[in-house]
Amino acid sequence: MRKIGVLCSGGDCQGMNACIKAIVDTCDSNQVEVIGINRGYQGLIENDIRSLKKIDVANIETIAGAIIKTSRSQEFMQEAGFRKAIDNLKLNGIEGLIVIGGNGSFRGARDLVNAGVHVIGIPGTIDNDLFYTERSLGFDTAVQQAVNTVTDIKQTMYANDRAVVFKCMGRHCGDIALHTAVAVEADSLAVNEIEYSVDQIVADLKNSMSHGVTAPVVVMSEGCKLDMDEVVYEIQSQLQLITRGIEIGYVQRGGEPTYYDRMLGVRWGVLAVQLLMQDMTNLALGVKNDKIFYCPLIEVEHVLQEFRVDMVNDLRTLHALPKI
Ligand code: F6P
Repeated sequence: MRKIGVLCSGGDCQGMNACIKAIVDTCDSNQVEVIGINRGYQGLIENDIRSLKKIDVANIETIAGAIIKTSRSQEFMQEAGFRKAIDNLKLNGIEGLIVIGGNGSFRGARDLVNAGVHVIGIPGTIDNDLFYTERSLGFDTAVQQAVNTVTDIKQTMYANDRAVVFKCMGRHCGDIALHTAVAVEADSLAVNEIEYSVDQIVADLKNSMSHGVTAPVVVMSEGCKLDMDEVVYEIQSQLQLITRGIEIGYVQRGGEPTYYDRMLGVRWGVLAVQLLMQDMTNLALGVKNDKIFYCPLIEVEHVLQEFRVDMVNDLRTLHALPKI
């Protein structure tokens, strides 16, 4: 293939720019033309494209977000929009398409594969909810951002003997909350994947306080069924402890990408171009035990989550709580 397109879709994540740069640089070294498609599938429908040269991507690897932007396109899910997108790929002579995104973006990519388009999928979402791969781009930085926020806020809570409840992003996946909770030694964790009640959280905090903790920390995930305000209220009233609730929010999608997200972005960018140059397509890229791999894109949706209960139990052991 001599002309390839790249787009980002869904929520942006750190590492997308490093990946785009690696794609452009690898193409430049191999005389392959790169077309950047702005604003994901929506930009493809609107033919909002631009040629990407080495000069356009200089120094972008340290920036979060995506220079070609992203979107969640409703129109792409309609037949007419989908057809327009395919027509524009043909019109521009794009022979292979690299899609960087999460769950929804991969669904779109599979539809394109089924319509005969040559696609490579690169997992890019802070949520880490594409379960065929151990990591997706952005997850590592998002956790680092959450850990930094919790660490900073813990200091003022400690000075005031207050409890604090943090809510992490991640949609239905509790991975950001889990990794953050372990890193900060949270006193209680509530995630979608494990049945947990407000009373159990209060009991966890009571247990920590009986061991001398004066400013206990709860980490919960966005997808967890509990309401943060209710958790705050119950801690406050049952433990007579001033309690604050903090939604960590979009800071988890900002900040300088960690080395790990940059490295993954670079490795997947290089591999995606190499595969397309050999006409190997309809593949999803992933990483397992530090090794990058590829597998059929249309199969990855069937891989189920293996939630890290062992990490939950590390946290519980730390606080002398029974394992689950
Ligand atoms: O999928 C990434 C993510 O940041 C989720 O964690 C969160 O639920 C969602 O996107 C927020 O979406 P939006 O940027 O559309 O508000």
